[in-house]
Amino acid sequence: MSAIILDGKVTGKKLRENAKERTTLLRKQGHTPCLAVILVGDNPASHSYVKAKEKALAEAGMEGRSLRLGGETSEAELLGVIKSLNADDSVHGILVQLPLPRHIREAVVINAVDPRKDVDCFHRVNVGKLLLEEPGFLPCTPHGVIQLLREHKIPTKGAHAVVIGRSNIVGKPLAMLLARKEFNATVTMCHTGTKNLAFHTRQADILIAAVGQPGLITGDMVKRGAAVIDVGVNRVSVAGETGYRLTGDVVFEEAAQIAGWITPVPGGVGPMTIAMLMLNSLSAAEIRYGGKCGT
Ligand code: GUN
Repeated sequence: MSAIILDGKVTGKKLRENAKERTTLLRKQGHTPCLAVILVGDNPASHSYVKAKEKALAEAGMEGRSLRLGGETSEAELLGVIKSLNADDSVHGILVQLPLPRHIREAVVINAVDPRKDVDCFHRVNVGKLLLEEPGFLPCTPHGVIQLLREHKIPTKGAHAVVIGRSNIVGKPLAMLLARKEFNATVTMCHTGTKNLAFHTRQADILIAAVGQPGLITGDMVKRGAAVIDVGVNRVSVAGETGYRLTGDVVFEEAAQIAGWITPVPGGVGPMTIAMLMLNSLSAAEIRYGGKCGT
């Protein structure tokens, strides 16, 4: 293997320690940052993500208020819960874990969260601010990827970044961030309509896979020396206690022979997402009490 491993656990820990220090300062002023996490239904992956968030909040000295609602919860009931959290001054951030059950409209729910408490940066007001480069939250996974590149001094200026996936959570915002003047990457966005995906990926100095398709990126699709960022978190069935193992969108063993840098799954982007969520939740509280603005 030749690639440098981009260890999100190490970089994420540094960021969470920073969040912890700032939380201590805020608590000395009598304010404990509080993130409310709403989980509807019994998606096993969502349950484990929420547990990881609760653990990180506790470690940072923040309050986590988890609301686990049954899968039969109606959209109106969920909107009622969000309304009361919006009005609760002791709650600084609200996160609705996605995906939601099919009978609940995701967009309606996301846009019901007070934009000042929208630590995911999913609300249309915050997405607009991101696009217009106005101060505000940055979405956790894209911002986590940027921090990982920054920490390892991976050059972005003039680099060709190829983003595979056009989701509202990762692909679209990450493409927008990388194209900002401060990063100055040339961005190509690939998706299910892209013809000859490998033609594009082989040109990438920074290759970001955010599709949710195990094995999509093989070694022959990677340019020598590229930074390969695997955002995919896929559960594939295996024999054994849990019955599954986590794997990304990239065939790690192959890509690691060719790439200059690569993220593992798990332990790459995932811990960065959590760290950025801690920082956004803290920022929401800091802003609430007149502190600094943005992330
Ligand atoms: N489901 C998968 N990723 C995310 C995320 O970043 N935020 C929320 N709220 N749900 C998710």
